[in-house]
Amino acid sequence: MRRFVKLVVCAVRLYSGGRPPVPLGGRILTDPDDIFQHNMWDHVQWTEEEREKAQQKAEENSKEKIPVEEQSKYDREAHKYWDRFYEMHQSKFFRNRNWLFTEFPELLPPDAAGTCTGSLGTGSGPCGSRTLTSETDTFPGQHAAFRILEVGCGVGNSVFPIISTIRGSEAFLYCCDFSSRAVELIQEHPDYEPAVCHAFVRDICDPAPPFPFPPESLDIILVVFVLSAIHPARAQGVLKSLAGQLKHGGIMLFRDYGRYDLSQLRFKKGQCLSENFYTRQDGTCVYFFTKDEVHQLFSNAGLEELQNLEDRRLQVNRGKKVVMHRVWMQSKYRKPYLSPASV
Ligand SMILES: C[S@@+](CC[C@H](N)C(=O)[O-])C[C@H]1O[C@@H](n2cnc3c(N)ncnc32)[C@H](O)[C@@H]1O
Repeated sequence: MRRFVKLVVCAVRLYSGGRPPVPLGGRILTDPDDIFQHNMWDHVQWTEEEREKAQQKAEENSKEKIPVEEQSKYDREAHKYWDRFYEMHQSKFFRNRNWLFTEFPELLPPDAAGTCTGSLGTGSGPCGSRTLTSETDTFPGQHAAFRILEVGCGVGNSVFPIISTIRGSEAFLYCCDFSSRAVELIQEHPDYEPAVCHAFVRDICDPAPPFPFPPESLDIILVVFVLSAIHPARAQGVLKSLAGQLKHGGIMLFRDYGRYDLSQLRFKKGQCLSENFYTRQDGTCVYFFTKDEVHQLFSNAGLEELQNLEDRRLQVNRGKKVVMHRVWMQSKYRKPYLSPASV
């Protein structure tokens, strides 16, 4: 089994989903005549004119703000809106995050690639130790040598690709969402395996309840399209509290909506809560980040930058001959290692 995981890891590292193993893809549009040859182009540069147009559109759609007295319900009842969302769409809305291991190879358990994680200071024993949870364990995943947490995991579009990759390795996955319906859908999924994964309900804006693992015990925290769903005033507190769950040397992996993404520009007047923060028809909310904001948020949480990129793409509807700009943020921030003097 371990040999199989190693092969999968190598294959993922060398070749993934038809995209070359460089950050954010390698489909570069050099000849404008080729535009309809692909449905997505990577590393797209905006012209000054395009940027100004986008800014204008965002200014227009955010001129009218939702009255302050109405705003608090979107924050207070956020979990109810998401519950309703999953009740309606079940597991059918988001696609599996197939780019996950191309962009975030840090998710691959080091033992699966043939090295042991003991150096990360887990105290979890040598390669080959048990990963299964049992009745004598004090917390799920106690014996894992590599622990991943996904927050705001929804119905598992990252969870299930991760489970199928770490199965048979030294890794354990925790995943949480504040929508109890989303967590139920994960637990009911035929690929959910309590020996490899523990799904639980948790509002990451609430720092009080303990996590089902000790502080500073995680190697990786995956934060994918969830920070944007949270009121921007809460984002800093969320990251600070999550950083407390990372080991020194552990990494937070972030991907989310970027400023002036197509989905921001499509909002109509009357849906804006505050600058660059909107509510959709179904009551769920979305914020659009800049690179500087991401840097501030993660640095203020005590983390150091490994990567902070703006992923700018051109999405092409080849049937309708329409092109649209997509903007996502992709970042990796590490909790600093302890200096020898402080150990
Ligand atoms: C856009 S969906 C993304 C789901 C998943 N990360 C993915 O990429 O498919 C945002 C998710 O964040 C969850 N969420 C929003 N605010 C949350 C909070 N305060 N605590 C936990 N989960 C939250 C929502 O329930 C929803 O499942």
